[in-house]
Amino acid sequence: MVITEKAYGKINLYLHITGKRNDGYHLLDTLMLPVNIYDKVKIKPANKFSISLSGQFSENIPLDENNIAAKAAKVMAKASGENKNYDNIEINIKKNIPVGAGMAGGSANAAAVMRGLNILWDLNYSIDKLANIGIEIGADIPFCLHQKPAFVSGIGEIIEPIKYKTSLNIVLVNPLIEVSTPKVFQAGVKHWSGKCKKPQSDNPSSADFINFIKNQTNDLLDNALIQAPEINEVITTIEKQEGCIFSRMSGSGSTCFGVFKDKESAQNATIEIKKKSPKWWVY
Ligand code: C5P
Repeated sequence: MVITEKAYGKINLYLHITGKRNDGYHLLDTLMLPVNIYDKVKIKPANKFSISLSGQFSENIPLDENNIAAKAAKVMAKASGENKNYDNIEINIKKNIPVGAGMAGGSANAAAVMRGLNILWDLNYSIDKLANIGIEIGADIPFCLHQKPAFVSGIGEIIEPIKYKTSLNIVLVNPLIEVSTPKVFQAGVKHWSGKCKKPQSDNPSSADFINFIKNQTNDLLDNALIQAPEINEVITTIEKQEGCIFSRMSGSGSTCFGVFKDKESAQNATIEIKKKSPKWWVY
């Protein structure tokens, strides 16, 4: 039996820091959105544990116990009791999501392994139970288990799916410079925006929703720029494209995104940015 799971990437439409816990983790107020690009994760029973990688972004990723997918298999085996053995699985991941990019590629892989083992091992755990297990190894894992647009708070464990439909025309751009999330936080976050006022309406118009996001910030931008100053150029380039409403960085970087007024302007911007900066990843 082979289980195949789609591990969707995400962006943070805004990201505010609201506090810091005693263990050093930061409290967040963020709006997270799955984006239409995914890693393909396959899991099957085997005689010994192994991870193999393929795809555009498979280089320089550990294949041993340091891979977050291996950590996910380990915590699942531990949570499920002594009769499930993490040594007896083979994991293959096709990496389509950039790495060190603020798109939760690693957490999405871990969440996919957890969903897969939930099926393979017949555990029938709820998504909430899986999220409780997963938060131990990554703050983005609860969101990646849900894979639905949601306001996220705590360190990443409080998920409030948004009730209305969102359809945004988004262009993603990554300068292909990896940013380390721990280093971004360790540099000390100077600006804490705090919790923001959410849209009052249960069904805001598209214009009101976009306006709401446009008024928020990403509090991690200054720290990400220390590792990847090119992020400024990425944001300015996106903003200059016709039809761009605004541009921001996602998560701890280095991926940035632009929200566009319609599909056509987003498609044109994709072509133009690829032409201008052929080394960047544009999606
Ligand atoms: O859990 P994740 O791997 O995403 O986090 C990497 C590091 O980023 C953590 O070890 C922690 O230093 C920092 N972090 C934080 N507050 C969060 C999420 C991550 O301080 N909410």
